Amino acid sequence: MTDLDLGALRARFPILSRTTYLNSCSLGALSDAAEAELADFRDQWHQRGASAWYEYWMAKLDALRSCAATAHGAQPRETALMPSVSAALSMLTESLPGELLASGRNRVVCSELDFPTLAYQFRVKPEIELVPLRSADGIGIDIEQYADAVDDRTLMVATSHVFYATGFIQDIAAIAEVAHGAGAWCVIDGYQASGQIPVDVAGSGVDAYATGPLKWLCGGPGLGYLFVRGDRLPELTPRFTSWFAAQRQFDFDFERFEFRDDARRFELGTPPLATVHMALGAHRLLESVGFDRIHARDRALTDHLVARLRQEGFSLRMRDDESRRSNIVMVSMPDEAEVVGRLAEAGIIVDHRPGHVRVSPHVYNTEDELEHFVTELVGIRG
Ligand SMILES: Cc1ncc(COP(=O)(O)O)c(C=O)c1O
Repeated sequence: MTDLDLGALRARFPILSRTTYLNSCSLGALSDAAEAELADFRDQWHQRGASAWYEYWMAKLDALRSCAATAHGAQPRETALMPSVSAALSMLTESLPGELLASGRNRVVCSELDFPTLAYQFRVKPEIELVPLRSADGIGIDIEQYADAVDDRTLMVATSHVFYATGFIQDIAAIAEVAHGAGAWCVIDGYQASGQIPVDVAGSGVDAYATGPLKWLCGGPGLGYLFVRGDRLPELTPRFTSWFAAQRQFDFDFERFEFRDDARRFELGTPPLATVHMALGAHRLLESVGFDRIHARDRALTDHLVARLRQEGFSLRMRDDESRRSNIVMVSMPDEAEVVGRLAEAGIIVDHRPGHVRVSPHVYNTEDELEHFVTELVGIRG
């Protein structure tokens, strides 16, 4: 990306002119493109009131499903808009064929490095036995561990594409192969992958992929995406539902209910239109940059940051294998909460997880900003 392109891109994200913003894995920065879509939502509401639904907003929902699908290597008909990633995971679990559990498949294999909301889905179900894989180095899980744990009692392998507190990228195609080899489902939480590394839901062979626009896609809170492979859709029958999932939603037929035959069968009532608009604006801005360029720049920024931190003698929680490394960089530090507070006083926004400062640069950051962070961190360490 040339200096000119980068300057123009940075100008679209006002927070970058005020802070050194290095926390995109918690919340992607707000852009003027997302704000413009939000303003459009407000204007349509003022002008058309409820008519905006039919004349305008339903098309926005379609546009977002379509953008989200393209960015994840899925089809619009495989895409559902959900209230959150938790809701998407929960919906998927509540849609599996009942015969599977009845036949003795009651184990869900996950990993202790997954975001806890994933395990919670199964901890609240007494009929499910959770099998959490333990990490030998606290960074990643090896594919052999999945192969050893999965058998004909496995209902599902449910795990992350990128681990939220180590940045480790899992080989989800290999995990899907292990799961399918034993007749189990493979469901992936991709929240920390979408927008920072390439995601190809169809190519990976996973059955379902839950994610959302909040983080690297810069679309704001209140929405999740659930992609379900088209050939597996007919096998899934949700056990909770809404009028948005009905084949003939606007017939208002009280007596009969029939599921849609696409992934919208998973949708749960009126979607959050404000977020739908913001997510669409952000998507289009990132698309105009090009996801390939974003991924390449993200990788370059992380390589630079890792090299500088190592040069300064910091210990990082990451494996040497660069192909497993993403833009979540964990710097080992005692008193991490205090360190993050002191960095904030210097205008640097990062966050922390136990024993570590978590730094997550994204396409709009610069090497100068990384240098600012490293210099302040060296100063705090003393
Ligand atoms: C990997 C991952 N999955 C899920 C979640 C939670 O998602 P939600 O609040 O949309 O349920 C987070 C939140 O940070 C996350 O990092």
